[in-house]
Amino acid sequence: MLSTTLLILSAVLLRTRRTHGHQTIWHPSMYGFNVTEQTFPYDNRPVTPLANGTFEQWWFHGHLDYPPNHGDFLELPAGKPATVEIACNKGLTSYWASSEGHTDVSQGDNPCPSDDGSFPSGAMHTTGFDDLTGCALAIAYESDVTKIQPENFTVFSVNHTCVWTRFTDFQVPERMPPCPEGGCHCAFFWIHSPNSGSEQNYMNGYRCNVTGSTSKVSLAEPKLPRRCGADPQFGKPHAVPGNCTYGAKQPFYWFQFERNNMFEGTYAPPFYTDLYNFKDGAQNDIFADSYASIPPPSPSQTAVPTPRQQPSATTSSSSSAPSASPSGQAPFGTPPGRCSTCRSKASRTSDVKKQSLFGFQTRKRTFSLWHPF
Ligand SMILES: *[C@@H]1O[C@H](CO)[C@@H](O)[C@H](O)[C@H]1NC(C)=O
Ligand SMILES: *[C@@H]1O[C@H](CO)[C@@H](O)[C@H](O)[C@H]1NC(C)=O
Ligand SMILES: *[C@@H]1O[C@H](CO)[C@@H](O)[C@H](O)[C@H]1NC(C)=O
Ligand SMILES: *[C@@H]1O[C@H](CO)[C@@H](O)[C@H](O)[C@H]1NC(C)=O
Ligand SMILES: *[C@@H]1O[C@H](CO)[C@@H](O)[C@H](O)[C@H]1NC(C)=O
Ligand SMILES: *[C@@H]1O[C@H](CO)[C@@H](O)[C@H](O)[C@H]1NC(C)=O
Repeated sequence: MLSTTLLILSAVLLRTRRTHGHQTIWHPSMYGFNVTEQTFPYDNRPVTPLANGTFEQWWFHGHLDYPPNHGDFLELPAGKPATVEIACNKGLTSYWASSEGHTDVSQGDNPCPSDDGSFPSGAMHTTGFDDLTGCALAIAYESDVTKIQPENFTVFSVNHTCVWTRFTDFQVPERMPPCPEGGCHCAFFWIHSPNSGSEQNYMNGYRCNVTGSTSKVSLAEPKLPRRCGADPQFGKPHAVPGNCTYGAKQPFYWFQFERNNMFEGTYAPPFYTDLYNFKDGAQNDIFADSYASIPPPSPSQTAVPTPRQQPSATTSSSSSAPSASPSGQAPFGTPPGRCSTCRSKASRTSDVKKQSLFGFQTRKRTFSLWHPF
């Protein structure tokens, strides 16, 4: 009796362990919500990292034929946070019932518990809090998913301390207009630190809808983000605000075989941080009327635009664009989530060394990035 129980228990544990991957936002509105390791001829679970893919493989994670159920939307309350659940396995979330293990293996706010209790675990791809690189939610005001092109997504919310916690807040800009009949489409994007793994993109698609909207102004056409923040590791100690893209920006499409919009090398990934002028929180300057004009960005540009109309929301202080004189407290190029009480990065970085593009090593353990457990 006891041994049978143990056998079942270890089978369940083995099962959940084997299905650990990396990280995504789990929600019933997701394309590929129930895709498992067996659904495709290759491992195409929503948490599987994307690199070197054809367009069909990486766009919406190749899950366009696995749409959410009718009526399931990720709700985006204008001017308020949308709280989502990030985890490396669906069993760790509120949606565990439809996970491969059909078991609630959640551990509070931990997005990806490791076997030995250490934190952060390998699948979080960070050496510590100071090595987090942010992630983003983007939106396309189109209900027909087949009509959406990569150039149609606009990043509307960023969280610089993603993927540290399971429950993660994304502030929704107050001026988001209503979605068309049939709703909008959203996507989650994440590129992690090069200190903890290879060149991986994460993209997952969702049906979404803006609620409580009070504005009708549409979004501006999204432009390519530019690497304008301080970049000390690459000999650029200070931010170059004139080089930034202001206003609506596309997500990063990086290291695929097709339709990239970013061409940075393996060790200089693009991040959803100040490095590319993605402020922490709501992106409040993405609307058609946000700026009277935007000077062409370049390393020698000295003029930076001032947003014409700022929302009255009180939640947006950290995401307002810098004023014309960027010398003062302009929040460029600071590491994400500056945190004086966090563990020092240096001490942890030395514990991790890159082994190859696909693996890395800590003093304790070796991980395969594809199956870190
Ligand atoms: C992607 O392909 C390039 C060239 O074929 C290769 O050098 C690189 O290791 C691959 N990277 C990944 C993450 O698959
Ligand atoms: C996912 O699986 C659950 C059952 O485990 C089912 O209720 C739900 O409808 C499925 N969702 C989709 C989008 O297939
Ligand atoms: C979507 O992007 C394509 C370019 O890929 C562009 O031609 C089209 O106008 C965009 N659609 C909208 C609604 O902006
Ligand atoms: C990012 O998510 C964390 C965890 O939910 C939250 O504490 C933080 O306020 C969020 N950041 C922003 C800018 O909303
Ligand atoms: C989206 O939300 C709005 C506002 O709550 C609502 O009127 C509309 O019906 C929703 N759209 C869909 C497709 O559910
Ligand atoms: C300016 O932005 C471009 C495009 O992202 C980047 O390649 C370049 O390094 C940046 N230069 C400076 C000085 O910020």
